[in-house]
Formats: sequence, structure tokens, C-alpha cells
Amino acid sequence: MRRVMVLTGGGDCPGLNAVIRAVVKRAAQENDWEVLGSIKAFDGILNEPTELMILDEEKVAGIHYQGGTIIQTTNKGGPFAWPVKKKDGSWEYVDRSDEMIRKIQYLGIDAVISIGGDGSQRISQKLFEKGLNIIGVPKTIDNDLSATDSTFGFQTAIQVGTEAVDKLVTTAASHNRVFILEVMGRDAGWIALNAAVAGGAEICLIPEIPYDINIILSKINARFHRGKGFAIIVAAEGARPKEGTVVAHASNEVGYENVRLGGLGFKLEDDLKKAGCEHDVRVTVLGHLQRGGVPIAYDRVLATQFGVKAMEMVLNGEYGRMVSYSHPYITSVTLKDAIQKPNLVTLDTALIKTARGVGISFGEDLIALEE
Ligand code: F6P
Repeated sequence: MRRVMVLTGGGDCPGLNAVIRAVVKRAAQENDWEVLGSIKAFDGILNEPTELMILDEEKVAGIHYQGGTIIQTTNKGGPFAWPVKKKDGSWEYVDRSDEMIRKIQYLGIDAVISIGGDGSQRISQKLFEKGLNIIGVPKTIDNDLSATDSTFGFQTAIQVGTEAVDKLVTTAASHNRVFILEVMGRDAGWIALNAAVAGGAEICLIPEIPYDINIILSKINARFHRGKGFAIIVAAEGARPKEGTVVAHASNEVGYENVRLGGLGFKLEDDLKKAGCEHDVRVTVLGHLQRGGVPIAYDRVLATQFGVKAMEMVLNGEYGRMVSYSHPYITSVTLKDAIQKPNLVTLDTALIKTARGVGISFGEDLIALEE
């Protein structure tokens, strides 16, 4: 019997279970492959006692439309930075990668499929360089991986964002208010941009285009006449003013390397008031509602395609590569290429032009940008 170990790493994402199910169903068509799930990314294989789950067709039946991941995930620690508590109560981070690879070999595991975002695929590449037979499956609701046309979870997040805009429009119009909807998007503003276009927002703020509060205020004022009117701003959590920084705070969670974003919406409300905004402003932070719950059909399909492809790459021994969607093909790229650069919104992105074409402001001075 040959064994493949599957794990989900980083933040959860709608469609993870559909990938797991597809890997298992494809493996079941071979007679000699067993699929194991490592609980909470690499923690399951690193922990003593080991926490692995046998994933057979019965276990994965009907999970394709379930949110989250049945094998759990984490965006803390990992084989290269395993947190160990010191006697004085502080934490140090140790490299357990060699020990982990030995354990994987000892347990007769022939290959690993790591489903995760850029951070997870960086770990995959390092493990591949150390000789592990590993394949990456891209996952991110932010759509910030450049080596694939799209990732599962992204469209579901846009859908959630769009439905939120639709709802806010009705309450904003009823009260003649300005509504700020804060959505996810650490470095890339794809969710905000798509939700703004789909929902018909007036203003969209993204990390890639620093904004000017006075330009936002002029746009808002142009939407109001004698106190009537309303305006919707969709803002990515990672957006920042021209002369300023992102709204973030350091995390005290052990092993969590990112700063925690969130709160831009409230800062924006304050700044608008300081800049002289006379309209009522309300803020909605969408947060993890964009990550939880049922994946829409598009994401289930893409996730299923990724899972089947990943298992076929295992069968073909195509290690050190990440599954990729390159329309109309499901193909693969080297992990090394996959982690080269993030997929950010650029000014010549077609959807930016479309957004401008329907009058969406990015809170920037267009003349300054053109110079
Ligand atoms: O990377 C995806 C993402 O959704 C970011 O947009 C967000 O900042 C982050 O995850 C939050 O993750 P968590 O709350 O799990 O640390």
C-alpha cells in the first residue's frame, strides 16, 4: 500500500473540503493508495502522539459543499518555526523540518499534498529542497497568488462581499447615509474591487492605490443633494492613506507571524468627519464571514479540479510543483515560480478600467497618477 498525506495550512477557505474529497476519490480509483490527513496542517505529523486521520470515501462523502476543513488548519508555527515554551515562560522557535521528514518516511508516507496560500507554499518549497515528495495546491480567498488564474474561495468571498453591499445599499438609501464596508484583502484588493463593481459602490479603496481622504469626501458630497442621497465605500482591510500606514496591531498569539489587520473602516469614518463630512457614516466589517460557510458552485468545481490534478501529479511523481489554473487548463508550475511574486491589482488591470468606466473612485488623484 502506498500513502499520500494531505494537509490544509494557513487561513481556512471555502472549497478546502472539496479538494480533500477529490484527492480521496481520485486515489480510490487506484488500488494501492491510502490517503491520510494531517490534523491542523503539519501539526498532526509533528505532534506526539501523531494526529493523522485516514481519509476514505466514506469519510469524505458529501463534504464538497461544507465550509472549513475537516482536517483543520493553522496559520501559526510549522515545521521550520515550531514554538517551544522556555522555562522563563517566553517562546522560542525551532526548526523541526528534518525530524518531520524522517517521521514521514518512517510512517511509509510516499507523498504530501499541501493545500495552502503563499506562506504554506514557501514551506512546501523548502521541504521539497530537503528532499520531500511534495505537491502544492493553491488556496487563498485574497486571490494574491500569481501563478494561477484563480483560486477557489475567492469567488465565494466576492459573493459574500457583494451580498453585503446589496444589503447596505437599501439601508444607506433609506437613511441617506454613507456606509463603509471593510472586506478582507491584506496586500491585494481583488475582493474589494470585485465586490465594488458587482455591488455598484461609489468608492473602492485597495492596498495598491493609496487614497486621499479629501478626494473621497468630494466624491461622497457629489452623491448628496440637499441632504438626500447615499454612498457606499468598499474598503480592503489593507488599504491605506497616501501619507499613512495600514490599520493593524501586533498579535500576541504564539507563532502567529502576521500583523492583524482590521479597523480601517472606523479610521476612515473618523478621518471623514475630521475632513468635514457632514453626512452620517456607518461602518460594517465583514471579516471572517467571507471565509466561512458553503463554497459557491464555481469554487467547488475549481477545488474539485485541483484535488483530482494534485492526486494525478502524485501518481506521476511530479513533485516540487503546485497545481495551477491556466484557462482552460488545469496544469502545474514549479513551487519556486509559484512563490516568486504576489498577484496584486495593477493600474492597467482591466477591472480597474471597468470600475473607473462606471464612475467608481479609488480615492486617488488621477492627474497625479498619470504624471
Ligand atoms: O490571507 C487571507 C486573510 O483572509 C487576510 O485577508 C486576512 O488579513 C487574514 O486572512 C486573517 O486571517 P486570520 O484571522 O486567520 O489570522
